[in-house]
Amino acid sequence: MIRKGIILAGGRGTRMSPLTKAVNKQLLPLYDKPLIFYPLSILMLAGIKNILIIVNKGQLNQFRKILPEKNHLGITIEYKEQLNPAGLPQAFTIGEKFIGKDNVCLILGDNFFYGQSLTKILKKNSNFKLGAKVFLHPVKTPQNYGVAFLNNKNKVIRLVEKPKKTNSNLAVTGLYFFDNNVIEFSKKLRPSKRGELEIIDLLNRYKIKNKLKAELIGRGGAWLDTGNVKDYYNASNFISTIESRQGLKIACLEEIAFNNGWIKKGDILESIRFYGNCDYSKYLKSIIA
Ligand code: DAU
Repeated sequence: MIRKGIILAGGRGTRMSPLTKAVNKQLLPLYDKPLIFYPLSILMLAGIKNILIIVNKGQLNQFRKILPEKNHLGITIEYKEQLNPAGLPQAFTIGEKFIGKDNVCLILGDNFFYGQSLTKILKKNSNFKLGAKVFLHPVKTPQNYGVAFLNNKNKVIRLVEKPKKTNSNLAVTGLYFFDNNVIEFSKKLRPSKRGELEIIDLLNRYKIKNKLKAELIGRGGAWLDTGNVKDYYNASNFISTIESRQGLKIACLEEIAFNNGWIKKGDILESIRFYGNCDYSKYLKSIIA
């Protein structure tokens, strides 16, 4: 079982400057919620209740305002600061104490996933035990991501970070499941040519030992980029379109917690008080009506 999840919500955010000069990217609005709600909702959909959020130095209080440790979401939230953003695998050394002897799921704070297939995939993988697991999604611009090459048995034969040229269109998304070896493997990593610890190098350690598995999020699921301003607004429009059509919200944290049986009506009423008079609160009211 995977019981612990880390959201990596630090980084330099330079690609979205000046928007991210004063505010952490993960706190910017993605349509009607802060970006961080979306990856958090994915962990909650996977049944994960113990959550560590890693943030930049000095930004802890901003995050606490919207996701306090004592919350009404039926989950426990802990925070750690990443003093000097030097790559994704730092999540496991910063989070060593939090992970303890358990397995862990990592989700990047700027990743947006949507689709029925996804919830199914998450539920299916919640009994993950050994090795590492990545989730792949076809994209038009693979050169912007970690890319996986599969053989005809859907086994990963190669992983490359942002290859200039590639004949695989399968991006490695920012959602990963790891067994407890991830802490030791991360400690042994050395910075790449661009001076960062690379998640692909970490995954390669598992691949060498034949312990890396891949799951495909097909075209029925959406994995959208929020990497630059244009993609960010496209993702916002996508959410707006779906929510307006269905009258249902994507990544309403209280709704997921309520459906998981983690919180009661009283908690939702507390959340309504917390958010104040807004559309989000109106939606919460409709859940318990
Ligand atoms: O989104 C998926 C991609 O994420 C993968 O396909 C790539 O293999 C992986 O390297 C990563 O690539 P990006 O170039 O998109 O990573 P970026 O540096 O933009 O960081 C992603 C998120 O992680 C972002 O929300 C900031 C956060 N972050 C990043 C670094 C490097 C941190 O919190 N700390 C860090 O040190």
